[in-house]
Amino acid sequence: MSVNQSGGTAVHIKGLTKSFGSTTALDNLDLDVPVGQMLVVLGLSGSGKSTLLRSLNGLVPPSAGQVEVLGCDVVAARGKELRELRHHVGFIFQQFGLVGRVTVLENVLSGALGRIRFPRFGVLAYPKRLRLEAMENLERVGLGEKAFQRADTLSGGQQQRVAIARTLMQRPVMVLADEPVASLDPESSASVMNLLLRICQEDHLTVISSLHQVELALGWADRMVGLRDGKIVLDTPASETNQATLMEIYRRGVGEVEPASMTVNSAPKVLVAPGLVGPA
Ligand SMILES: Nc1ncnc2c1ncn2[C@@H]1O[C@H](COP(=O)(O)OP(=O)(O)O)[C@@H](O)[C@H]1O
Ligand SMILES: [Mg+2]
Repeated sequence: MSVNQSGGTAVHIKGLTKSFGSTTALDNLDLDVPVGQMLVVLGLSGSGKSTLLRSLNGLVPPSAGQVEVLGCDVVAARGKELRELRHHVGFIFQQFGLVGRVTVLENVLSGALGRIRFPRFGVLAYPKRLRLEAMENLERVGLGEKAFQRADTLSGGQQQRVAIARTLMQRPVMVLADEPVASLDPESSASVMNLLLRICQEDHLTVISSLHQVELALGWADRMVGLRDGKIVLDTPASETNQATLMEIYRRGVGEVEPASMTVNSAPKVLVAPGLVGPA
């Protein structure tokens, strides 16, 4: 599959619906994402964020609708074509997905498995050029000195940085991140999002990240899309919104309890960690 970003569109979604039995996870969704955009998808748990992200690399086959990513018709794509798409699209998970008992460097190297012919076990089984590239990517996420430590000895924030370095080994043109900082403390969350933003800007990557921390999204995104019950209920440039407006998308029926972290402050308050806005 050759990456086709012609027309400047990275993602084109039309009428996307996904049902799981009687649950409609995505409901007739339309969304276009231009190349190079940093898009944050906001929404309560169960609003369809993961299903949307997973639809973009073919992990979730839609019930109806069109999904095109980097010029690939994801709905029609099979086998080799899907593997190639996933090679161009990095995926960052909430739970990092590292192999804890092997070294940080080997975890990073495993990101290059799509670029080499045979599975490799152990750092020395990889060609030297890839080992050097993996070290460079580790330096890029600020963890060069941790290369030979077991991955499970690192903090959560450090592990997510390793996962970012691993994704860079794919040389992706697009990154999908599904609540990448949901299991981190606020300080680590800000620093991981800041790092992701800087790298993606430097490499001109298109990024779609789900988040449920509104304050992080405000410091990070070009554009925000709010999901509720599988529908887009908000689509706005980040520069034209504020926390109070964004909190509206979390409001549910009267009488339902909102999670404590998502209550609306009386005065809009934007919490942006130092250095979070713009390239460092
Ligand atoms: N594999 C699945 N089987 C059945 N229901 C699912 C599955 N995946 C997601 N759902 C349902 O689809 C809805 C959207 O889920 P999800 O996309 O995971 O939301 P979010 O990521 O915003 O929390 C939820 O109601 C969820 O229970
Ligand atoms: Mg989810």
